[in-house]
Amino acid sequence: MQFWLDSADVRSIKRFSTAGFVHGVTTNPIMISKQSHGPEILIPELLKAFDGPLAVQVVGDMTDGMIHQAEKLYELNPRILIKIPVITEGYAAIAYLAKKNIPVLATAVFKTQQALIAASLGAQYIAPYIHYMEEQGINSLREIENMQLVLDNQGLEAELMAASVRNITLIETMAEIGVSHVTLSPEIFEQYFSSFAETVYANDSFTKHWLEYLEISA
Ligand code: G3P
Repeated sequence: MQFWLDSADVRSIKRFSTAGFVHGVTTNPIMISKQSHGPEILIPELLKAFDGPLAVQVVGDMTDGMIHQAEKLYELNPRILIKIPVITEGYAAIAYLAKKNIPVLATAVFKTQQALIAASLGAQYIAPYIHYMEEQGINSLREIENMQLVLDNQGLEAELMAASVRNITLIETMAEIGVSHVTLSPEIFEQYFSSFAETVYANDSFTKHWLEYLEISA
């Protein structure tokens, strides 16, 4: 499974990527607006903070505007993965960008229908929003399981990237149903990668015994 960090915070990105845990980073306009620097300064800073793909979302609801922003971002750095919300105008932008081989992450996905359309048009990643699906009364597990089945059965190359993961147990649930990517907030990332007390205890006791053994054999 690939673990992406859902954050526009340079410090969090540096922290988890230096440890070697981060396959990529996803951002959204809300996260970016909460940072002290605007996108012109922030995006280059984020790119400098780690060396993998950085997903940056276009804003607005007009296909031309989305395409224009996407092309500018991709020109700035081909490590930028373009996030496009799956509204009808977004589908058209996905189709256009896919033909130009500009990688797209189709975002704000709630239904299998949206995943099927975006994947068929050439999106590379599809991001279903677990928490927001549940808020809408959608059974997120059943819906995402169905998305994965449809992508597999259609032989589509797009990969699911589960987003809005508010509980670490969902990560394994996603892994079980074949979802290959998750994007996690720094808080969830921290929780998922933290040591188990039992393992810390076992490791301490291996170390203690080894040190005792070294003392005896010295
Ligand atoms: O980046 C989009 C999505 O992952 C945000 O989810 O639950 O942190 O609002 P959430």
